[in-house]
Amino acid sequence: MTETPFIVAIDGPAGSGKSSVSKEVARRLGFGYLDTGAAYRALAWHVLDRGADTADEDAVLAAAADFPFAQGLDPDERRVLVGDADVTAAIREPRVSGAVSGVARVPAVRVQVNDAFRRIVADAAYPAVVVEGRDITTVVAPDAPVRILLTAAPEIRAARRAGELEGHDAGAVAAALHRRDATDSAVVDFLTAAPGVEVVDSSDLDFNQTIDAVIAVIRRAASPQQQGADHG
Ligand code: DC
Repeated sequence: MTETPFIVAIDGPAGSGKSSVSKEVARRLGFGYLDTGAAYRALAWHVLDRGADTADEDAVLAAAADFPFAQGLDPDERRVLVGDADVTAAIREPRVSGAVSGVARVPAVRVQVNDAFRRIVADAAYPAVVVEGRDITTVVAPDAPVRILLTAAPEIRAARRAGELEGHDAGAVAAALHRRDATDSAVVDFLTAAPGVEVVDSSDLDFNQTIDAVIAVIRRAASPQQQGADHG
C-alpha cells in the first residue's frame, strides 16, 4: 500500500453507539474498521492476567513493554489477540471495563498505542479506515478528512449499555459507565467537539438513522461539489 488510506475519525463516549455504528458504516462502505478501545482493553486484560492491578502504573508500564497485541481491520472478523490468547470476549467483561481507565490514563501507554494505531492504518489493505475511539479526531488523526464526535444524552447511553450487558443490574451498569466517563474525560475530552469536528447526536436517532447521518458526513467530505452545494 503506497497511499495512506482515507481516515474517518470517530470519537465519543461509551454507549453513544460509536462502536456498532462505526463497524456498520465500515461494512456498508467497504472500509476497514479499527476499534482503538480494544487495545486499551486488551492491555488492561494483560495487566490483570499477569496478576497485577491497573492502578499500579509501574505494573501497567511493565505489561505494556511486553504486549503481544494483534487486531485486524475487517469489520466482520473482530478477533483481538494477546499472544496466543483470544481475548475478544474477555475484554468486554465488567472486570476489564472497570480496570481499563487505569491503563488509558498513563501518557506513555497512549503514545505507544497511538503509534501502533497509525502503523496499522498506514499498512491497511483498505482504501479507507474508520478509526474509532476517544482522541482520534484530536490526537491520533487530527488531519483526517472526516472527523466526527458521536454523542448521546447520558441517560440514553446508560440505558443502551445496560441493554448490551444482559444479566447485569441496570443501575450498576449506569453507575459504572458514569464513573468511567468521569475518569476517562479527565484524560481526553471526548464530550466536546474540537474545532472542525462534526457532531452527530444520536439521542433521538435509531441505529439506521445514525448510520445514515454518519455516511452523509463522509459523503460530504469526500465530494467537494456536494460540499459547495450544501454551503452555498
Ligand atoms: O470505547 P471503549 O469503551 O471500548 O474504550 C475502552 C477504554 O479505553 C475507555 O475507558 C477509554 C479508553 N480509550 C481511550 O482512552 N482512548 C481511545 N482512543 C479509546 C479508548
